[in-house]
Amino acid sequence: MKIGILGAGNVGRILGEGFVNSGHLVLISSREPHNSKHVSWKQVVGQSGDITSFEEAAQFGEIIIIALPWSCLKDVLETIDPVYLKNKTVIDVSNAVHFDNGPRLLLQDTSAGVIVQKLLPESHVVKTLNTISDKIMTHPNFIEGSPIMFMCGNDNPSKDQVRALLKDIGWTTVIDLGDIRQSLLQESIMLACVISENQLQSSGSAFALLRH
Ligand SMILES: NC(=O)c1ccc[n+]([C@@H]2O[C@H](COP(=O)([O-])OP(=O)(O)OC[C@H]3O[C@@H](n4cnc5c(N)ncnc54)[C@H](OP(=O)(O)O)[C@@H]3O)[C@@H](O)[C@H]2O)c1
Repeated sequence: MKIGILGAGNVGRILGEGFVNSGHLVLISSREPHNSKHVSWKQVVGQSGDITSFEEAAQFGEIIIIALPWSCLKDVLETIDPVYLKNKTVIDVSNAVHFDNGPRLLLQDTSAGVIVQKLLPESHVVKTLNTISDKIMTHPNFIEGSPIMFMCGNDNPSKDQVRALLKDIGWTTVIDLGDIRQSLLQESIMLACVISENQLQSSGSAFALLRH
């Protein structure tokens, strides 16, 4: 598939490389697509990936991934002609969180996923991959077993597409938590994961379900 990623930071680059390696065509995007900081990523992914503007990535993608800091996400979406996002599956990886004096969710009684769906009413937003560190976003291999990846969203066909994409990058146990309102749960799980990692001095951890 053609995947357009809004962002060329840690998450955008890792997911871009992961999806290129599983046979997809990927454009990641930046305010400065021609900046030399992107050269190494282009060398790694070869012909199947490139770096462009936010709007070109949105136009290109059959599936869109939002990999932007919460602080600029709304502003970036407003620079994109909505027609390029209409009726598309939009994967939201964002977290509205601040890390001063211990990690905390920024939003009260709502979530980043719900707000992104409101910003893009004609798109099918699926929240996923926000609960884990970029280091383990693709092919998460743990000696203890398979971690769980959660997702939620309002549109079932979009969630089927996302489940297939998650499988492509190594997530075999995917739990559908329900509609987009469940992103509050996923953003809280992210916080629990960050706090657990800090206390256990473990970077790159994920939750798994222990079955009796
Ligand atoms: N990093 C993780 O481990 C992780 C894990 C799970 C979820 N997340 C979530 O994923 C999202 C992306 O995280 P990240 O770590 O990839 O962020 P990041 O490395 O800081 O990436 C930032 C990207 O956003 C763009 N950007 C930054 N400020 C901007 C502004 N004012 N206007 C327009 N574009 C701007 C940057 O564009 P330029 O290239 O132009 O600078 C860059 O492409 C966040 O919401 C984060 O909470 C992160």
